Amino acid sequence: MKTEVRRFPELSRLSKAAAEFIVDLINTTLEEKDSFSLVLSGGNTPRQLYEILAAPPLADRVPWSRVHLFWGDERCVAQDHPDSNFKMANAALISKVAIPADNVHRIAVESGTPSEVAQAYEQSLQRFFGGSSLNFDLVLLGMGKDGHTASLFPDDSVLHEQVKNVAAVNASAASPAVPRITITFPAINRAAYAMFLVSGEDKREVLQAIVSRTDPAGANYPAARVEPREKLIWFVEDFD
Ligand code: 6PG
Repeated sequence: MKTEVRRFPELSRLSKAAAEFIVDLINTTLEEKDSFSLVLSGGNTPRQLYEILAAPPLADRVPWSRVHLFWGDERCVAQDHPDSNFKMANAALISKVAIPADNVHRIAVESGTPSEVAQAYEQSLQRFFGGSSLNFDLVLLGMGKDGHTASLFPDDSVLHEQVKNVAAVNASAASPAVPRITITFPAINRAAYAMFLVSGEDKREVLQAIVSRTDPAGANYPAARVEPREKLIWFVEDFD
């Protein structure tokens, strides 16, 4: 796996560069494949990126009918709740582009208990990938100031999951402190590419500890364990 760190003076420049990277990767991948599987991140950082992807010129460069959207995690709240990752992505991106509804693979958190929802999402992923192994083309990820990513929080037993691709987590220490559904490291690390979008002064120390690889403690953060098959790219705000 190759790793690259791209630093930007502010979030707007970071978001534009990340959007351009995604569109280029989609088009390169679709020269070889019929469809592109993109896992969206939650939280606030990716909102600008989604808005840039949803507007010309980039939106016009994406063959949306061949793109499939998934979520890296979702909070167990109604899909119109302010904390819903689907709600944010739908407002910023999905509602603005001509992507077929069947290509939007939402985590239907209202369909049962968190563990039932996780199981159902796992089954929907298996159906999408058919007999071949579950290999997302690109996983977008954010990082919290505690080094969590998706809903993989420090010291949670889900960090040791080696079989399931989707899990329900309690996330009582998270904000918002609601149960969540998350993809696991097996699903993330079988992806071809992964990219982090990290913005916010409060993440500086953890980010430095992870990307510098000089601090052995850095390896303990969940975000440090993202190792996709081809390449990991960090799009980060430059705090210096
Ligand atoms: C979530 C996200 C989570 C997020 C980080 C960073 O559902 O909360 O998936 O992993 O990416 O907490 O969040 P911000 O972008 O809001 O800082």
